[in-house]
Amino acid sequence: MPKKVILDVDPGIDDAMALCMALFDPDLDVIAVTAVGGNCPADKATRNVQAIIEQIDPPRWPRIGAASPPDHRLPVDGRYLHGDDGLGDVKFEVAELRTRHPSEKVISDAVRSAPNSVTIIALGPLTNLARVFQRDPELSSLVGQIVISGGTVKGPGNITPAAEFNIYCDPEAAREVFRSPSTKTLVPLDLTNQIVLSYDLFNRLPEESTKVGKFLRKILPPAFRAYRQQFGLEGIHVHDSIALCAAVNPELFAFREMAADVETMGELTAGMTVFDRRRVPAWRHNMEVAIEMEEKKVVAELIRRLGGEPVE
Ligand code: RIB
Ligand code: CA
Repeated sequence: MPKKVILDVDPGIDDAMALCMALFDPDLDVIAVTAVGGNCPADKATRNVQAIIEQIDPPRWPRIGAASPPDHRLPVDGRYLHGDDGLGDVKFEVAELRTRHPSEKVISDAVRSAPNSVTIIALGPLTNLARVFQRDPELSSLVGQIVISGGTVKGPGNITPAAEFNIYCDPEAAREVFRSPSTKTLVPLDLTNQIVLSYDLFNRLPEESTKVGKFLRKILPPAFRAYRQQFGLEGIHVHDSIALCAAVNPELFAFREMAADVETMGELTAGMTVFDRRRVPAWRHNMEVAIEMEEKKVVAELIRRLGGEPVE
């Protein structure tokens, strides 16, 4: 039975890669892709979700949720990595969205239609999920599992010294989700920073004659350029693809039950994920955190799920 999933995304090039992996996976029933502002403003995130789906044309088109701006957004800008339009400034054409269903309504309806059997894979700020839980508190107990790309346990942030981007964009929303009674799995930067895909990725992509192959060859070059210019890296991080992999191939990861919360007020630490790692913790465990992975097998899975050439 295919696993029912919702992908909540702020595309974003690594979000787009994760969508390419998920939307062609016969083991996944992607019932919805909901947009959230983050790497780009809410309206562009919605447009990008539709652009990605139109470009790769998956066998089953998911419902699309439209993003709306968060209530407490911190001043942040993802253009340095993802371009002005969020997809490397490739400027994809998009058919106009007929009716825009708000992301939080799409999520709420989908979870209520299949209680305790939907996995929400959150690859952007947690604005939508927090809204769903605020408007319908019972819902957090009806979601099967929430897999979150973001946060840091011991390592530095990536948008400030203390905070990871997704959490930093909307710390109040992240705290709401972290404190909810939902079943959560966090895939933090400590882990996702360990994988850097080199230019060899272009030799592993699906054929250019395929829609995914053609799409990825358009959005990946701007990502490689941005990583070289911003970080001097000869490769790219793929945080969201790894988080997706943790949701669909958990056997490749090790997890630890932990207690976490989010700093929402700190002048220097807003958006920081704080874990009670004292010898005798006082906070109750509220999530499992991915602490290790079989890197080579995860990379091989990413490539395989993209429909690319197997990695030796
Ligand atoms: O910190 C990495 C995360 O922030 C990824 O989800 C990336 O797409 C950005 O949203
Ligand atoms: Ca993202």
